[in-house]
Amino acid sequence: MANKQTVLITGATSGIGLQIATKLHDNGYSVFGTSRNPAKYADKVPFPLLALDVTSTESINDCVKLLLTKTPVLDVLINNAGVFLSGSIEETTIEQAYKHFETNFWGAVKITRAFLPVMRGQRSGKIITTGSLVGLIGIPFSSYYSASKHALEGFFKSLRFEVKKFNIQVSVVEPAFFKTNIDAASEHAVESIKDYDDIRKLANDFAEKSIAAAPEPKPVADIVLKIIQDKNPKFSYPVGKNSKLLPVLQLLAPGSYEKGFLKKLKF
Ligand SMILES: NC(=O)c1ccc[n+]([C@@H]2O[C@H](COP(=O)([O-])OP(=O)(O)OC[C@H]3O[C@@H](n4cnc5c(N)ncnc54)[C@H](OP(=O)(O)O)[C@@H]3O)[C@@H](O)[C@H]2O)c1
Repeated sequence: MANKQTVLITGATSGIGLQIATKLHDNGYSVFGTSRNPAKYADKVPFPLLALDVTSTESINDCVKLLLTKTPVLDVLINNAGVFLSGSIEETTIEQAYKHFETNFWGAVKITRAFLPVMRGQRSGKIITTGSLVGLIGIPFSSYYSASKHALEGFFKSLRFEVKKFNIQVSVVEPAFFKTNIDAASEHAVESIKDYDDIRKLANDFAEKSIAAAPEPKPVADIVLKIIQDKNPKFSYPVGKNSKLLPVLQLLAPGSYEKGFLKKLKF
């Protein structure tokens, strides 16, 4: 019966979310995906899509209500919707940073809060969130993105303890670079300060090259399936190139970690 579990995954129309949703659907799970524009993707995906913009509380409430008319239980919630914001701290406006957190942090928080009473009532559930390797380490010219992913780590780490007694399990997957539409969909700092031109270019070149050389996000979907099937999943699941190594190196050998990082970026 495990395969008949119901899953809701946000941002299921592209990249990592599409891989995960398709894999779970192919493995017999009852998958509901979400999109800001479900009509655009309805014929392209093999699972139903609900309308959801995670930056809108009204849209979240409508999505939750609609899902609960379709299924009385939610076994697995996957917070995956997210965007990338590039630019130095000085060049990014605070308004941009707030907006970014609305999607990457508050979106996941609000959806999770909306489904906690359902899962608590069931005395079961899994909440899996797509964090990032950048939620474990910092990278320049992506500070707000990195901060939003660090915030998710802290939030879900704490939630894991709070809901354990209700048999709700909380995990975060932390992908390194994977080839998706994240770069094309990314937002950029609206201001430009000449002093940063040289290192901004180096950082952008590094990110572009890394994404171009990155693999398809199949390993992320494999990990999520593993978490769902595991009776006692861990909290943290780094996945992809150097995702396990870098956080450990940062902790155990901070000097050489930073030197190596700056050398890699050619700063
Ligand atoms: N690719 C990587 O290298 C990488 C690495 C680490 C972590 N991640 C994380 O993986 C997650 C998925 O990113 P991706 O790389 O697969 O990018 P992607 O291909 O651009 O997919 C992003 C998904 O998020 C949805 N989305 C964006 N803004 C939304 C909003 N306001 N409300 C609801 N849905 C929204 C999009 O759906 P619609 O446009 O249909 O609404 C889309 O399905 C993100 O959380 C990202 O931070 C990616």
